[in-house]
Amino acid sequence: MPKPVLSIIVASTRPGRAGLAIAQWFHELATAHDSFDVEFVDLAVVDLPLYNEPRQPITRNYEYDHTRRWSEVVARADAFVFVMPEYNHSYNAALKNALDYLYHEWRDKPVALVSYGGGALGARAIEAIKPVLTALRLIYAGEVSISLSRSPVVDNVFSNDEQLDSRANTMLDELHLITSMWRTLRLEQRRNAH
Ligand SMILES: Cc1cc2nc3c(=O)[nH]c(=O)nc-3n(C[C@H](O)[C@H](O)[C@H](O)COP(=O)(O)O)c2cc1C
Repeated sequence: MPKPVLSIIVASTRPGRAGLAIAQWFHELATAHDSFDVEFVDLAVVDLPLYNEPRQPITRNYEYDHTRRWSEVVARADAFVFVMPEYNHSYNAALKNALDYLYHEWRDKPVALVSYGGGALGARAIEAIKPVLTALRLIYAGEVSISLSRSPVVDNVFSNDEQLDSRANTMLDELHLITSMWRTLRLEQRRNAH
């Protein structure tokens, strides 16, 4: 069986964002982990407008090309890692908007979270996103929280350390295990439907 596809989603779209360097660090680790085919998805490049589909995503009946393109990106993934900042004790609006656009494409797929922020290490962003993951039937598969004061991004380079690398690798082990189980179930369900 081919390796599962892991989509690493850079949630921040802000010029000068720390998120890009953190996502690049995680992308290198995930590639070296060698258990996934890794895709790098930058919401700044995806560039979705504020939700403007006339119908609900549950209909999967899309009016616009930007939605159809986004649908293809998310549909081909077997698992996700959201690299997400804490904004005002929550996660950022661009990520919520990108999540809202789709439904079936997220469903029954594991997601792990890499959050970052000040003193609270993005923990409030993680708590805020959990009910949304549940609504979309995404499967929560772990997290790594980063303090930007302890591990800053300087000149677009993330100052990771061994402890963070080790936590991220443990999260990837767990994500791979959960993804393999859910992918088998999804394939079985698809076979039974035909
Ligand atoms: C709109 C906004 C709100 C923020 N609110 C919080 C917050 O509630 N808690 C926190 O720890 N950091 C907060 N920060 C600081 C961010 O965590 C920090 O700027 C981080 O670099 C943002 O991620 P980004 O650079 O990838 O966009 C906020 C930053 C912005 C831009």
